Amino acid sequence: MEKRFFIANWKSHKTSQEVHAFFEYLKDNITKVDLKDKVLIIAPSYTDLMLCRNLIDKYSLPVHLAAQNVSSFPEGAYTGEINAKQIKEFADYVIVGHSERRKYMHEGEGDIENKIREASEEELHVIQCIQDEQSMVHKGVELVAYEPPNAIGSGNPDSPEHVNQVFEVVSKENVGVHILYGGSVTPENIQNYLSIEKLGGFLIGGASLDASSFLSLLSW
Ligand code: PGA
Repeated sequence: MEKRFFIANWKSHKTSQEVHAFFEYLKDNITKVDLKDKVLIIAPSYTDLMLCRNLIDKYSLPVHLAAQNVSSFPEGAYTGEINAKQIKEFADYVIVGHSERRKYMHEGEGDIENKIREASEEELHVIQCIQDEQSMVHKGVELVAYEPPNAIGSGNPDSPEHVNQVFEVVSKENVGVHILYGGSVTPENIQNYLSIEKLGGFLIGGASLDASSFLSLLSW
């Protein structure tokens, strides 16, 4: 079986103390889940990236890191921005094009293209979120996360049948790209999606914040 990606998108959550507690639980319990054919990625806030890196290394955990965003610019005079080279010190992946960034930060396709260019120059793997099967997948993207906006954080996930339809379209147009589903995935409903042929994994928000819930998502 092809590997499936489990990406925890922590959004704007967790203090360093909460990060410590998450990893304490993870290191004590991770051996209880079968990680064969699974790739685990955590996307914390920028401020937690270094701490997560240190804890992953300290406990030798099979976990990768992603940044939730990347600057559209290289290093330079861009106050408040975190560039790809800085991210690369701690993480291997970046998320771009999330609906929340489109909605609240007004990011558009041009921004996304620039972010992907910056990320690719530092050999960061790009996870691009798309909203539906019509959304453009940019060049250089290795993982696409289909996240219908009304399924995000709503407790109202898209149906496995519709996810399957979207994946069929996206996979035809983007050969070789891993396609993930995201939007109200929980330990209770994750099973419903596992038989989708083209499923490359999940992007999980709310249900990934609690370490025991995160491990439950991997327990099948
Ligand atoms: P959710 O978020 O699992 O809380 O719906 C998913 C996401 O936005 O990545």
